[in-house]
Amino acid sequence: MPYRTIIEPFRIHTVQAIDLPTIEEREAALRRAGFNLFGLHADEVIIDLLTDSGTGAMSSEQWAGMMRGDESYAGSRSFYRFEAAVEDLTGYAEVIPTHQGRAAEKILFSVMVSEGDVVPNNTHFDTTRANVEYRGAEALDLVESSDPSEILPFKGNMDIPALRATIEEVGVDRIPLVMMTVTNNSGGGQPVSMENLREVRAVCDEYGIPMYLDACRFAENAWFIKIREDGYADRTAKEIAQEMFSLADGCTMSAKKDGLVNIGGFLAMNDHDLSLQARNLLILTEGFPTYGGLAGYDLEALAQGLEEVVDEDYLRYRVRSTEYLADRIIGAGVPVVQPAGGHAVYLDAKALLPHIPPHQYPAQALAVELYRNGGVRGVEIGTVMFGRPRPGDEPDEPAPTELVRLAIPRRTYTQSHIDYVGEVVIEVAQHAPEIRGYRIVDQAPWLRHFTAVFEPLSE
Ligand code: F0G
Repeated sequence: MPYRTIIEPFRIHTVQAIDLPTIEEREAALRRAGFNLFGLHADEVIIDLLTDSGTGAMSSEQWAGMMRGDESYAGSRSFYRFEAAVEDLTGYAEVIPTHQGRAAEKILFSVMVSEGDVVPNNTHFDTTRANVEYRGAEALDLVESSDPSEILPFKGNMDIPALRATIEEVGVDRIPLVMMTVTNNSGGGQPVSMENLREVRAVCDEYGIPMYLDACRFAENAWFIKIREDGYADRTAKEIAQEMFSLADGCTMSAKKDGLVNIGGFLAMNDHDLSLQARNLLILTEGFPTYGGLAGYDLEALAQGLEEVVDEDYLRYRVRSTEYLADRIIGAGVPVVQPAGGHAVYLDAKALLPHIPPHQYPAQALAVELYRNGGVRGVEIGTVMFGRPRPGDEPDEPAPTELVRLAIPRRTYTQSHIDYVGEVVIEVAQHAPEIRGYRIVDQAPWLRHFTAVFEPLSE
């Protein structure tokens, strides 16, 4: 077959205007926001790669589903359509809707995790970590490889000997569950192999510990298994996803990613007794168990999204479009986490800005420059997000990596938008030695990256 460009398998049906703020306007916006990109107004951003969460475009079938939404408080038709879609995909008997992923996490950890427990994960996402820690437990990351430049097909894999050693050391009684994040967002959007999921399952079975998936990007993970793991080339992405879910006892899901919706999530599991406890908490904070903080129309859109996301033309385009951006940037010699993740390209600020120490936030400095130079908004995943402040004037305890994530919203930007992002990254990288670090002048006790106020360091 001759080489052909992998095209977007959709036409654009509705468009939204993008404002093009000038550099002076961007400078002013940065100052107003205390150099925290979460403080920008979206209209001040040209290409918004802050997150792939809830930022994608829904299909005409999803919008049609919105019209069919049944807004009954109890027992809505839309709930049963949603429940059937989740059961078909995951095989889990108990399906609990939530307004987004972190609500599912909060409920799951409230019923499973106690003070002094340890929760192993390949890598916790920030809200997952915060929800574990909020229970007084320890969130332990045991990913096999966290070297940004190491090229592995399944770099999200759990380190199995480390998992075993942790269980032996901590004791089964203090490990209420093991989680696997697919794909591994904080570790570079890297996939987990089916073999690794099977191995984690085997260890959990040996010790009698439940295993849960943090399944936000399950379809992208399934696609990587199809194209990279022996024995899966002829299986459909949906069958692969079903096998992934079958290896776990349940999952938390932020449907704002691979649910292809702007809001929504769920908690699903096989354990009936646990689900009763979870539903009681759901009623306390999210709503009645047949809507869980969502409108009937949201449940319709989500049910449809779960079908569309395992479409192989969609997944081929999705993973290729991320790789396309990475290829351009790597081609210009800019250091990125390799191979490219499913939903995002991660720039390696530690390698690009070796003159800025972790406690002066090199990845934050790089993210600010991308915005200043071209109005491109990414997000820092480094010492601001995962480092820890130390008392007095002591420098922060650094995070293991200093990354800027450029997350690609689903079905939203065109190839020329992505070309533009590549141009901005390359231009900023050419001026890397001139970029200076930051200090934090105000911060919250947890999840500080959302609201911290920064000041540029002059030298
Ligand atoms: N788990 C993972 C792996 C995530 O990436 C996220 C969200 C969550 C849980 C929480 O889900 O936002 O619906 O409450 N990640 C977004 C991101 C915010 O930008 O990566 P939520």
